[in-house]
Amino acid sequence: MPYNFDTIARTYDRLNRVMTLGLDRRWRRRAVKEVVSGQQPVVNVLDVACGTGDMCVELLKRGCTVTGVDLSEEMLAIAKVKGERLKVKVEVADAENLPFEEESFDGVTCAFGVRNFVHLEKGLSEMLRVLKPGGRMVILELATPDSKFIRPFYNLYTKHVIPWLGQRIAGNRDAYTYLPDSIARFPKGDAFLDIIHHSSFNIHHCEQRKLTFGVCRLYVVEKC
Ligand SMILES: C[S@@+](CC[C@H](N)C(=O)[O-])C[C@H]1O[C@@H](n2cnc3c(N)ncnc32)[C@H](O)[C@@H]1O
Repeated sequence: MPYNFDTIARTYDRLNRVMTLGLDRRWRRRAVKEVVSGQQPVVNVLDVACGTGDMCVELLKRGCTVTGVDLSEEMLAIAKVKGERLKVKVEVADAENLPFEEESFDGVTCAFGVRNFVHLEKGLSEMLRVLKPGGRMVILELATPDSKFIRPFYNLYTKHVIPWLGQRIAGNRDAYTYLPDSIARFPKGDAFLDIIHHSSFNIHHCEQRKLTFGVCRLYVVEKC
């Protein structure tokens, strides 16, 4: 069963901002820059696991037409409010079974969503299925940093400060205690690139970039 984000939707944006010290916005902007800088012009983009719609908003600022999908109705309710002003289409849909024709989108993004997929390869192959040839799929995901100098600070922050913030801001310590464990369990770097390669035969190129000491990873995948 995927984790149900409905319970934390109302405080999700505020907690994200505080927890990442505002870096989440910068990371999304970086992802958007990557998705639009492929060889082909990028007009319409699918944002998978769009949550409260922050990535959709960043895509709109770059002039894209955006469709956002997510499993959580409460998260989407917030995205709809942001999107109505800005004309984003959002709908309930499962990343592992996307309700779109093959090769429908010039670009696909997914920020902090893949870690929550029940069947990771299925979700990735679906995202690549709906992407046009030559288009880019860009994924952002949190990761434990490699550096042994950074790691103690990271552990202290994620194991103590984040659950405390979760309790203070969302009134939900458990949801944010689960976060560091789920980050640690999720494949990162080359291990994740291998999974991406296994999910489709149509990959031309894929690479990763470490953001903020590797606390966030950006994966750029080009479809052939
Ligand atoms: C950590 S939030 C990220 C939200 C947003 N992308 C952002 O940048 O803040 C993860 C989101 O993934 C969604 N999600 C998890 N599994 C999903 C799936 N199989 N299909 C669609 N959405 C999914 C959750 O409902 C949740 O809104």
